[in-house]
Amino acid sequence: MQIVVTGGLGFIGSHTVVELQNEGFEVIIIDNLSNSSRDVLDGIKSITGKSPIFEEFDLREKSKVQDFFKRYPNIKGVIHFAASKAVGESVQEPLLYYENNISSLVYLLQELKALPDANFIFSSSCTVYGQADELPISENAPVKPAESPYGNTKQIGEEILKDVCKIDAHFNAIALRYFNPIGAHSTAKIGELPIGVPQNLVPFITQTGAGLREKLSVFGDDYPTVDGTCIRDYIHVVDLAKAHVVALQRLIKSKHKSNFEVFNLGTGKGSSVLEVIQSFERVTDLKLNYQIVGRREGDVIAAYAETTKANQDLGWKAQLTLDDAMASAWKWEKQIRNIK
Ligand code: UD1
Repeated sequence: MQIVVTGGLGFIGSHTVVELQNEGFEVIIIDNLSNSSRDVLDGIKSITGKSPIFEEFDLREKSKVQDFFKRYPNIKGVIHFAASKAVGESVQEPLLYYENNISSLVYLLQELKALPDANFIFSSSCTVYGQADELPISENAPVKPAESPYGNTKQIGEEILKDVCKIDAHFNAIALRYFNPIGAHSTAKIGELPIGVPQNLVPFITQTGAGLREKLSVFGDDYPTVDGTCIRDYIHVVDLAKAHVVALQRLIKSKHKSNFEVFNLGTGKGSSVLEVIQSFERVTDLKLNYQIVGRREGDVIAAYAETTKANQDLGWKAQLTLDDAMASAWKWEKQIRNIK
C-alpha cells in the first residue's frame, strides 16, 4: 500500500518512514532537502532493509505536485510533515512561512481530493493552545491567538482541513498536535540535524555535551513551577512516529468517528528544564555546563498533554521515558560527531 510522506527526510518524517516500512507500507518520500540530507535515506535503509522511493521537489511548485499524483495514481494516504518550523525566523519572514506552509498544503489537498482514498495526516503542534488555562491540556482546550506566523500556519492548516472535510465526506483528515518531540532512533542511524545554533532545548544540551557549545542558557528560573523553570511534555520521536502509523491505519480502516479528527501526542507528563538536564546527566554520566539567564520572550510557563483521547481512540500510548529519549539523543550526537 503506497503512502506519501512529505518532509520524509526530516526529523519526525524519517522516524515515521521507518515505522511505516516496518509495518509493510510502501513509502514515497517527497522532500526538497531544504532542511535535510539525502544521507538520511541510507539511515532508513540500514534500519529497515528497504529504500523508500525518493522524489526531490518543492511542494510550492504546483505543476510538480500535479505531475507527481499523475505518476502515482494508487496512493492510499499522505502524511504531511514538509514545513518550515523555526518560530523566530517566522517572525522575520512571515510571507516565507505562509507561502511554504500554506500553499504547499493547498496544492496537496487539491490533488488528493481527486483520489479515491483521500486520507491525510497533518503535523500540527501544541503551540495552538498557547498558555492553556488548564493542565493537562485536552483537545477541547480553546485554540489561542497564535504567537508567531509559524504557530498561525498550524492553526490555519487545521482550519483548511476542517473546511475541506466539511464539504467533502470522502475526505478524511487527522491533525496531530505534537508536544515536544526529542530523541533519536535507538540505532543512532537517524536523528535530529539542526542547522546552525539549535533553538530547541535537547539538541542544545547534546551539542553542549559534545563540546560544540560552551554552555546552555536556561531561560528563566522564576516561573511558578516546581523548580522555577518551564514545564514541557517531551515525547520520544519513535513513540511519535508510531502514532502516525496508527492514525493512518485508523483512516484506512475507516475507524474514525468523524472525517476530521484532532489528537494530542504527548506523554501526559510534564518535565522542567532542570529535570531534562538532570536526565541528561544521569544517562551520560557527564556534568552539563549551564547558566540561568532571563526568560525567553514568548515562552509559555507549562504545557503537557491530556492523552486520554489518543490512548482510547488511537489505541496509542507513549512507551519510552525521558531517560530513554535523552540516552538516544546523546548516542546520536556522539555518532555524528565521532565521539567514542
Ligand atoms: C518551541 C517553539 C514552539 C514549537 C516547538 C517545536 C518557541 C517559543 N516555541 O517550543 O512553537 O512548536 O519549539 O519543537 O520557540 N530552553 C532553554 N534554553 C535553550 C532552549 C530552550 O532554557 O537554549 C527552554 C525553553 O525556555 C523551554 C524549554 O527549554 O522552557 C523547551 O524549549 P524548546 O525546545 O525551544 O521548545 P518550546 O519552547 O516548547
